[in-house]
Amino acid sequence: MIDLTGRKALVTGGSRGIGRACALRLAEAGADVIINYVTSQAAADEVAESIAAMGRNVAVVKADISERDDIDSMMEFVDEKFGKLDILVSNAATGGFRPMLAITQKNFESTMKTNVMALIHLVQASVRLLERAEGRSKVVAISSHGSHMALPMYGAVGGSKAALESFVRHFALELGGKDINLNIVKAGLVETDSTRRIPYADQLFASRKLRSMTGDRFLTAEDVANCVLFLSSPLADLVQGETLTVDGGAAVHA
Ligand SMILES: NC(=O)c1ccc[n+]([C@@H]2O[C@H](COP(=O)([O-])OP(=O)(O)OC[C@H]3O[C@@H](n4cnc5c(N)ncnc54)[C@H](OP(=O)(O)O)[C@@H]3O)[C@@H](O)[C@H]2O)c1
Repeated sequence: MIDLTGRKALVTGGSRGIGRACALRLAEAGADVIINYVTSQAAADEVAESIAAMGRNVAVVKADISERDDIDSMMEFVDEKFGKLDILVSNAATGGFRPMLAITQKNFESTMKTNVMALIHLVQASVRLLERAEGRSKVVAISSHGSHMALPMYGAVGGSKAALESFVRHFALELGGKDINLNIVKAGLVETDSTRRIPYADQLFASRKLRSMTGDRFLTAEDVANCVLFLSSPLADLVQGETLTVDGGAAVHA
């Protein structure tokens, strides 16, 4: 039902986890995909091979999204190779897990650069490409429960996600009139490389089990990618500046 044939989609952090699932899902729906990564070239190449096997055009771009110069070079590459951008998925994020009392200026600044400033730079650098899209172009940013909940050792990332959500809404106000939709997918806990590294991962996964309203059917990267697909499609043309939560009901569970 969702046909993205001919659309060009860029997924930051498309090499692993949720970004990988988004890249694959958008390609399954017909989009040509640019996979961004920063360290995992082999993983990014593997995703690209799967997408090429679906018959889509695909490219892999190394860029550190916390650096404006890298983002500018990546967008120049997208311009040269694809000439436009229909879908931008701002997925890549970072941030160490530590108590609020242990957050340093360096830790704060690097988390905000990758998780918040990157979204601003990505949109600023791609707006001319997004304006060349067929129909309305789509920007989807990935947020987490930490934007509104207090989670142990998650303060730096949680605060960055709250800021990210606000910036998306403000961008929507500025760019909605230019045929660009900006929305957020707020995901619950998904088992990925980053969540396996959380010091209290076992407790977190156990509490997810208690709060989920979907029995043993736990949230996966593919579930998050399905929401990204919807917000990237014409079905969501009238959804602007919104947050779609996908978490099996965990956030509303008392
Ligand atoms: N997992 C969860 O439970 C969960 C829940 C809610 C929201 N989220 C959000 O979902 C997103 C993806 O999380 P994940 O769990 O899938 O993470 P992950 O498995 O650790 O993957 C992180 C991805 O981001 C890329 N990346 C990190 N820093 C980068 C940088 N500076 N420049 C370019 N790429 C960079 C990595 O590239 P390399 O492979 O090259 O290192 C990798 O592809 C994040 O925004 C996260 O906050 C996750």
